[in-house]
Amino acid sequence: MKADKLYPESKIELNRFLARHYDRLLNFLSFGTYSKFIARAIADTGIEKENHILDLGCGTGRNAALMLGYLGPEGRIAGLDILPEMRKQFEQRFEKEPRVTFIRQRIDVPFDRGEKFDLVFMSFVLHGFPQAVRLIILENVNRHLKPGGRLVLLDYARFNLNQKSFIFRWVFKKFECVYARDFIEHDWKEILENHGLRVEEEKYYYKGNLRLLKARLVDISVSRPG
Ligand SMILES: C[S@@+](CC[C@H](N)C(=O)[O-])C[C@H]1O[C@@H](n2cnc3c(N)ncnc32)[C@H](O)[C@@H]1O
Repeated sequence: MKADKLYPESKIELNRFLARHYDRLLNFLSFGTYSKFIARAIADTGIEKENHILDLGCGTGRNAALMLGYLGPEGRIAGLDILPEMRKQFEQRFEKEPRVTFIRQRIDVPFDRGEKFDLVFMSFVLHGFPQAVRLIILENVNRHLKPGGRLVLLDYARFNLNQKSFIFRWVFKKFECVYARDFIEHDWKEILENHGLRVEEEKYYYKGNLRLLKARLVDISVSRPG
């Protein structure tokens, strides 16, 4: 356990090495299939040309680069992350792209950027936090969505780890933290619904282990799910 991390048992606050090599590592661990998968998932997101997108825990900007392909001149992406290694890669990637900006911002504490977005995108971030913190993040999502705006959540699907193969369980336990094990047990569709977000569509990848949940903000009065 590292004492300098806010959630010592979490792996979501990547170390410098992992952050620097994050994209390459995903390609390697997925046997080269990640690029095709993530392009599919971003296509499934249903981005519209003029969308203003908030990417929470944006990482290197790999997802933002794909999302940009769907935007017209009026579209915008704001990527939020905390790691300098991610900022460097993100800003290098979008050096000449005025529609994309990086903002250093913790997403696990209540915050308000003073702007509303059409779409909040979050991929492989929510699972890495304790449940109480995930609910704070959902409040941040709602605070930044326009009425009728959408949350697109790409993360682990709901499954029973004990029913998976030995090799799957080994890899999951090796590379993921205790919070991820807790994340897969929650009913995220119900949690989003309780949070004023109506789930409209879900897509599954990698034999149903990963899921894209598409939800629309329908009730801005709901502050905190139970
Ligand atoms: C597993 S990576 C996913 C990156 C990116 N979303 C993707 O799918 O490629 C998790 C990201 O969340 C960022 N992160 C971790 N804790 C955070 C926090 N409290 N606030 C904002 N970003 C955070 C990390 O720096 C990292 O870039």
